[in-house]
Order: sequence, then C-alpha cells, then structure tokens
Amino acid sequence: MGLNVQNEWWRHAVTYQVYVRSFADLDGDGIGDLPGITSRLPYLRDLGVDALWITPFYTSPQNDHGYDVADYTDVDPLFGSIADADALLDRAHELGLKVIVDLVPNHSSDQHEWFQAALAAGPGSPERARYLFRDGRGKAGELPPNNWESVFGGPAWTRVEDGQWYLHLFDSTQPDFDWRNPEVGDLFEDVLTFWLDRGVDGFRVDVAHGLFKVESLRDQEIAEDEVPGASAASAAPPSSMVERTLRDEPMWDQPEVHDVYRRWHRILEKYDGDRMTVAEAWTQTPESMARFVRPDEMSQSFNFSWLLAPWSAPAFADVITGTLDALAPVGASPTWVLSNHDVVRHVTRYGGGPVGLARAKAATMTMLSLPGSAYLYQGEELGLEQDEVHPDFRQDPSWFRTGEEGRDGCRVPIPWSGTAAPFGFGPGTGQPWLPQPSSYAGLSVEAQQDDPTSTLSFYREALAARRAHTTGIDDHVEMIDLGADVLAFRRGPVTVVLNCGTAAVALPAGDVLLASGAVEGGKLPPDTAVWLG
Ligand code: GLC
Repeated sequence: MGLNVQNEWWRHAVTYQVYVRSFADLDGDGIGDLPGITSRLPYLRDLGVDALWITPFYTSPQNDHGYDVADYTDVDPLFGSIADADALLDRAHELGLKVIVDLVPNHSSDQHEWFQAALAAGPGSPERARYLFRDGRGKAGELPPNNWESVFGGPAWTRVEDGQWYLHLFDSTQPDFDWRNPEVGDLFEDVLTFWLDRGVDGFRVDVAHGLFKVESLRDQEIAEDEVPGASAASAAPPSSMVERTLRDEPMWDQPEVHDVYRRWHRILEKYDGDRMTVAEAWTQTPESMARFVRPDEMSQSFNFSWLLAPWSAPAFADVITGTLDALAPVGASPTWVLSNHDVVRHVTRYGGGPVGLARAKAATMTMLSLPGSAYLYQGEELGLEQDEVHPDFRQDPSWFRTGEEGRDGCRVPIPWSGTAAPFGFGPGTGQPWLPQPSSYAGLSVEAQQDDPTSTLSFYREALAARRAHTTGIDDHVEMIDLGADVLAFRRGPVTVVLNCGTAAVALPAGDVLLASGAVEGGKLPPDTAVWLG
C-alpha cells in the first residue's frame, strides 16, 4: 500500500454502466457497438461521470449477451474489433474518463476452445479437468451429480453424449470452470495482462463469489420453507441480518476464492494509474462482502443491499450504517448502486409513474451524497422505466428457463433523439434488437437536454453538485433523527434529508444546495430529497 492509498481515483468515482448492446449502434445493425460508445463519450463527459464500465464485448455466441465468452482476448465482430477497443480507450482517456471492462471468470461459453476440447477428449482427460464434469447418480448415472439448481432455473447440470454431466450455475451454454485446476488461474492471468497492457483502468468481475464450489460438490441443504436453487441474488439488507438464517450455499462464497483476488491484486499493482477491480458478489452478509475488499484483494464490491432496500427510511439508514460498519475494519470504501442490467429499473421498483420517478431521483441524490463511489446504469439519467417486452421479442435466457420477469425490460436500447424507433440509437430505421416503446419520444436525450426541469438536467446538476460539495469532505456519516419516515444525516458540512413518508417535514436550517423536487417554506415534500449546506 502506497502512501496516497486513500486517493485512488476509484474511491470517489461515479461510474456509468454501458450495456454494450443497447447504448449506441454506429453500424446500423440494430445492436450497439464499440464505435457507437466512442461516438457518445462526450455525452458521458458532459453528464459529469468519472468512468464507464462496459459489459462484455468479447467473442461470444451471445446466448447470455456476452456473459458467455468464447475468446477472452478478442472483440466479437458484432461489436467491432480490437482496433475499435483501442480507439475507445484512447478517446475516453483524452476526455478524462476511465474505462472498466467486464471479466467473466466463473464460466466460459460452450463455444470456448477449451470446452470444445473437453467434449472431444472424453471422461478422465486433462481437457475435461478444466471444467466440472462428473458422473451422474442413479443406477446408470441418469441423475445429476447433485441437487443444485441453475440461477436461470432448472438443474445446474447438463448431460453430454458419453453420459457425464457438467456443471453450469447459469445457462447450459455457460459451463463453470474448475478453479482448483491451476491452468484456469493461468488463463485468467493472461487475460488480465492482455487488457491491462491495452490500457484498461479496471475490471468488473462477474460472479466474483462463484469461482470455487465446495470441493465435494455435495448437495445443497434446503430448508422446508426455502425455494431451492443457486440464487445469485441472495444478498439481504444488513438490517435483516439479525432475523435471518443464512442459506446453505455450497456453490457460493467459498474461502478459496480469496487467493484468486490476492493474485490479481499483485498483477494490478505492477501497473501505474491505480488500476482497480470491482466484485459482483451477491454475498449473504455485509461481513462476507467485506472479505472481498480486504487491502490485498479487490478494490471494491457492489453494495447490493442499497439496491435491495425497500422505500423506507429505517431500511436505508440500516443499509448505510451496516455498510460503513462492515467496511471500516478492512479500510475499504463503500459503493452504492440502484440499477443495473440484471434488475428492474429503480423508477419502476419504487412504483413507476411520477411517484416512482420522484423517489428514484431522491434515492439517487441521497446515494450521490454518501462517502465512496456510485454506479449509474445507462438510461437512468433519462428516467427510463422497466419496459414490458412482448413475449415474441424476449431474448434473456433466464426468461426462457423460468418464464419469470427476466431482464430484457431494463436492456431496451436507449433513446437519443427523434420521435420514432430507433430514436437515434442507430442510423437505421425500425426497431433495434429489443423494441423501444413509443413513450421514448419524450424521454430522449434530445428531448431532455435543454429542458432545465428534465431528469437529465437533474442528473447533470446532481453530479456537478457532488463534485462541488463532497470532494475532499469527511467520510464520516452522522445520523440525525427527524422522525421515523425521514432519513437524515450529516456528512461534513452537508446535511442530507430524504422524506420517505406521506407528509411534508420541516427542514433544519441551511441553504439548499440541491433538491430533487420543490422545497418551499422550509418544508420537504414526500418522495423528495435535499442537500443543505
Ligand atoms: C452476472 C451478470 C449477468 C449474467 C451472469 C452470468 O450476474 O451480471 O448478466 O447473466 O452473471 O454471467
């Protein structure tokens, strides 16, 4: 740890998540691409974010939209070329933006050359030993090796022609690596080095808690009232910790995984510029989240308890104190996030319509005042809601495997301009890979950019206010009691108040630095937040 260890750029950064398929389509095939992202980088600079995280753009059959990687060190022609990735990195750096790329180490695509070799080589071969192939149970091995279920629904095992089964915690086209095999660790060292050498500033690590499974691959113990399955989204707000019995999860969060992140830490340390890692780890407790960000492991971990918290002042307060308390002993800085490509957009989670939007802006503004860094998901700055994608156009493998909500509704390509699809997303006419609703006409960047009352203007203002008022201030958060329905705290010179109740509340003294709605006569209306200075 160097002397200026608390000053790394990522500790206070606001990072904007770009879902590559749905951000900007330069070649007009209806699917977003790297040159499209490059062309829109000035928009991100003007929005006021510090960094962007780009979801996987590597060679992939796209069964899970890039989270099924066939070649970790090449760009899928759908999204461009290595030269396009280099150009994106150069342009982002010119504009002062950092770039985080996605790393998918838990599983590959079944089209990866290693998995194809494993299928060809047969049982007992070194090629099979890079994945988790096992014989089945039952008289003729006709039953899966254990009772685990895939996160996307159905058994986590698929049988191959010669009778063996392989493990896939996600789709059957996403076989899990066996991280107990040293060849796997070596492969990923090469992948990290490849992208670090090209100049990426960090990695978002997919399913970071999943790499190691309990060695015996024993059955999961399932309590009577519990839904079986390898739920990746089992993180709970810290407040519920006390009442909660933890699930038995032999497929997640095994202690061996931390050696991987220590090794990666040593690799990143050799590079200049404070390269970073952020874990996607849906762990069950804030304490287990904290283990991923010990000083010699990852830089950050997504704090999903903020995203999972209901619209409730005590719940938000518990998440804040629970997070800060869990991270303090390891010296890590917190992260905050409300939306991403896997969850229902937060405007919709908070009820949708004008109330949902008011709450979403208030919760976002509260998050932006907290110590640490924040992650935004493309389109939230436009106030987009979860879209109801018609079954004929569904694409998400989890929707096909479970028939439940699925994730297409938060992945619809974002509207840039115009009054009809593709709303400036690409040069073509007509619908992109997921159809855009007609309501996008009023929500495009063009429609909002010059309107001072728009959600986009609010985000710009909030990000500017964050820079102006929270840079360099104390990280300590002191809770204030303004009533049961009100979240209120002081951070350095800034007082933040969020009204989750149904009546207006009287504000303490102070100048309004930023407000998510109308603050009149010293009163904060419901579903509104304010920063006072
Ligand atoms: C992560 C990704 C998700 C993907 C899954 C499997 O949870 O965020 O989109 O489907 O991992 O890679």
